[in-house]
Amino acid sequence: MATADRPRPRTRRQTRPKDPLDRLGRDLLVRIMAEITRDAVLSLDRDGRITSWNQGAQALLGWAAEEVLGRHFEFLLPEELKRSGEVERLLEETESHGFLRDRETVRVTKDGRTVHVALTRLHQLDANGKPLGATAILRDISTRKGLEEELVRARTLAAIGEAAARIAHEIRNPLTGIHNAITLLKAEFGPAHARAPIFEEIQHEIRRVDVVLDDLLTFARHRPLSRQRLDLVRMLEKVVANLLAAGELEGVVVRRYIPDEVVVEADPSMLEDSLYNLVQNAGHALRGRSDALITLALKPGPKGVAITVTDNGPGITADLRRKIFDPFFTTKSHGTGLGLPITRKHIEAHGGRLRVRSAPGKRTTFEILLPPAVGASV
Ligand SMILES: Nc1ncnc2c1ncn2[C@@H]1O[C@H](COP(=O)(O)OP(=O)(O)OP(=O)(O)O)[C@@H](O)[C@H]1O
Ligand SMILES: [Mg+2]
Repeated sequence: MATADRPRPRTRRQTRPKDPLDRLGRDLLVRIMAEITRDAVLSLDRDGRITSWNQGAQALLGWAAEEVLGRHFEFLLPEELKRSGEVERLLEETESHGFLRDRETVRVTKDGRTVHVALTRLHQLDANGKPLGATAILRDISTRKGLEEELVRARTLAAIGEAAARIAHEIRNPLTGIHNAITLLKAEFGPAHARAPIFEEIQHEIRRVDVVLDDLLTFARHRPLSRQRLDLVRMLEKVVANLLAAGELEGVVVRRYIPDEVVVEADPSMLEDSLYNLVQNAGHALRGRSDALITLALKPGPKGVAITVTDNGPGITADLRRKIFDPFFTTKSHGTGLGLPITRKHIEAHGGRLRVRSAPGKRTTFEILLPPAVGASV
């Protein structure tokens, strides 16, 4: 039997390495590992202060080694995690088991982002078995976490959509009945009757409910694309004219950076609804401002056509940005919160993308990217 295969005597396994070279070898191993791995590897002393910080740690968390060496590692944890006693928990668990493996948690980057990581932590002892500190390895699992969250979100949205479609369907029949009954009453009393304006008012409100039901069904149902060649410039002008006529752009200057003609192959009603909602939202964001400005731009290019709607309104904070595409999220007293979810659905049905950029307090830009498959020719 080769020496390496022979079972080691029990006593040897139970004694801790006395030879300082063993420790040196172990340190060297950690350092080599830290150099070659893409994961973040950091060493901590007994008090939790950072003593080494590899390239992976810089890439994942943003700080350079000289900015973090000597600092307690708790600045890498979000406040709420610290408040929940995570630092103490980590120390306790690493000490009692000797290590922690693939604990899913979060850390904060230099620019304030939260990243999902799998944390492995090893308790380090010196030659006499006294605690030296710990080595922590952080693996970036943000992509997987993002996909998981996306999946849960997609399932939730599908469930909401289904429930909403059923409710919309149930409401629509009695609503049609009420509308017909009012029409009969109106005819019976005649337009000169003192009660005629009340009938008008009821019908107006019924139409509003009907628009919401329409939105709900558009959001929930799948409708195949009906592509046609259309001129985007004319469509955009029609949308602006309709919004002006509806009083939605009062006091707003509309600036255009658009070529004479941009032809695409797209579903006209889906695209028109999308443009209408984006320009309408921009108009709403500008209500009451004296310097209200909407800038519309169409840029055909090799990657497709980019349509941008920019307003110099209050902007959208990072917190709000996470919610505005959720169905029924609205900050308006008369909003349904379906405009953006429907717009995104329409654009994605074309294989395109809807993006938002915003500098709170300054401006917001919504950008539709229609891919070349839709065909752009100027
Ligand atoms: N240009 C913008 N500037 C600031 N906030 C915006 C802008 N566009 C959208 N938002 C925010 O996003 C929210 C959701 O927009 P969305 O179009 O989905 O719904 P809505 O406009 O509230 O209602 P509706 O269903 O009638 O469109 C808005 O209520 C608003 O808070
Ligand atoms: Mg809207």
